[in-house]
Amino acid sequence: MALRVLSVASEAVPLVKTGGLADVAGALPAAVAPHGIAMTTLLPGYPAVIAAIGKAKRVHTWDALLGEPARLLTAKIGDTPLLILDAPGYFERPGNPYTDAAGKDWGDNWRRFAALGRAAADIASGAVKALSCDVLHAHDWQAAMAIAYLRFAPFRSEPRIPTVMTIHNMAFQGWFDPRVFGSLELPAPAWSIDGVESYGGVGFLKSGLQLADMITTVSPTYAGEIVRPEFGMGLEGLVALRGDRVRGIVNGIDSNEWSPETDSALAARYTARTVAKRTANKRALEKHFGLDEGDGPLFIMVSRLTWQKGADLIPEVLDHLVGNGGRLAILGSGDPAIVAALQDGAARHPGKVGLQFGYDEALSHRMQSGGDAILVPSRFEPCGLTQLYGLAYGCVPVVTRTGGLADTVIDANPAALAAGVATGVQFDGAHYHGLASAISRTIALYGQTPVWKQIQHNGMAADFSWRRSGAEYARIYQQLAGDSA
Ligand code: ADP
Ligand code: GLC
Repeated sequence: MALRVLSVASEAVPLVKTGGLADVAGALPAAVAPHGIAMTTLLPGYPAVIAAIGKAKRVHTWDALLGEPARLLTAKIGDTPLLILDAPGYFERPGNPYTDAAGKDWGDNWRRFAALGRAAADIASGAVKALSCDVLHAHDWQAAMAIAYLRFAPFRSEPRIPTVMTIHNMAFQGWFDPRVFGSLELPAPAWSIDGVESYGGVGFLKSGLQLADMITTVSPTYAGEIVRPEFGMGLEGLVALRGDRVRGIVNGIDSNEWSPETDSALAARYTARTVAKRTANKRALEKHFGLDEGDGPLFIMVSRLTWQKGADLIPEVLDHLVGNGGRLAILGSGDPAIVAALQDGAARHPGKVGLQFGYDEALSHRMQSGGDAILVPSRFEPCGLTQLYGLAYGCVPVVTRTGGLADTVIDANPAALAAGVATGVQFDGAHYHGLASAISRTIALYGQTPVWKQIQHNGMAADFSWRRSGAEYARIYQQLAGDSA
């Protein structure tokens, strides 16, 4: 019989997405299915989710889930079974899953996502007979309290379900004022350094890292980085302490969503053998962004516009990029200061720099299909998906040598070029000089057509499907279930 895993996440494609977590949580069930894993995903019932699932069956109710009434609904998207936590008091709100319309975190996020964890722990410890499972897998701080509730206040204490905590980003830890502890409905012993206490408050991610049977993060390099303060951001000691339980598993890409051969968003579809067809997509992109038409390199960026992503470096480097014959199209949203600086920069370079602010899934696909190179100058990057999409689409990634970017791109240095294995350009240090010289190198490579074509081909031929990583997750679940049996 298949092993049953309950995956708990605060977003998942195709229902709700603010970033890569949604791509991964959405792809995981199909990635592990071939390895004998039956995964069900528990998601909060945001308005978009409730609307998308239509009429759904209710399988459980809570009169008061940390104070609010809630219902558990079952649904399916394609072949993927879903559980939806329908708790209007927590999730029936406009805007983003985490913030109000003005971009400010909801003040009760601790209660909203503790409730998600409480519900997950109830399900995983047998509150709903038909939904019992063998392993619980929590993603990021929003799901992490499931592990704390399972440990300190399960619905039923036997058998104890093994747990996996996946870190998608150490920068978001879900740390809250100690006063919230009293409302979490956890027993007193949970308030301890071995429990949910963290730096004098309640640490959601910390709880998961402390109490999970296994910890994974989304690339091997990031797994090594987070034992250092600049990446661990306060939790490096705990990660180091639990080192024998930490694994780095690189994310895959969902080829049903991301393949230039079948992508319905594109003006022209293509394969590695027909990359010349990308020109039609490049022309379409130039038009969309109001850029001058041209054969010079068209850089793109699809990103949250934040410090993590190095987006603040782009306004500084624009003169260099344009001065050397490049053009740039950016799709993103985020930090207002970065947005303003980009607008200033674009105004200095009419026809050379195009901007679109906001979120646009279809456009993000079209950009990968028409851009020549994608900039990902992140200061840290647990895995990163846009460079993987770039590789698959022949849009050559230009990335900092950190986290998953270091693991997934092969730098076009002389040795890699001579061996014919390069897939992109890497540089050390997210700062002006690093990025500017990487842009110069990219433009020079672009000028050597056969070399550039080889780099594009190598990227398109690389295997970033979920095949290997799906098997790795499955092995972890099976091992945990075996150990606890
Ligand atoms: P992170 O999750 O840290 O933001 P990732 O690279 O893992 O970074 O994932 C980002 C995901 O969000 C990718 O699928 C990317 O294409 C998408 N994305 C980011 N910004 C936008 C945007 N403005 N419009 C459309 N898609 C976006
Ligand atoms: C986070 C990270 C990103 C990663 C994604 C999915 O948002 O910032 O690097 O790709 O999670 O794991």
